[in-house]
Amino acid sequence: MERITNLADYKKHVFVCVNKRTEGQACCSSVAGEEIFYALKYFINMNGLAGRVFVTKTGCLGYCNRVGATVVIYPERAWFKEVTMNDLEEVKKQVMSGMS
Ligand code: FES
Repeated sequence: MERITNLADYKKHVFVCVNKRTEGQACCSSVAGEEIFYALKYFINMNGLAGRVFVTKTGCLGYCNRVGATVVIYPERAWFKEVTMNDLEEVKKQVMSGMS
């Protein structure tokens, strides 16, 4: 094992649940988890923040529902459930807060 040490520019990490569960069960895959992930990834890249803000797909974060995906932002430890595409602007604002 080798510790990664070249993370000087790294500021934030956004996790987006894209977990898919058995047919009929509530999961982020069926409530636009992938779309939210790609929209955030695109936003980060378009704003030149790749390498400073990581956006990562995750498995289940324990807040499965039928409304929207679960999104987590670190280091703020900001957890959001039921995130829909309509909430994207607010999530982007949260991601950008403290970035300069
Ligand atoms: S499937 Fe996303 S929180 Fe459980």
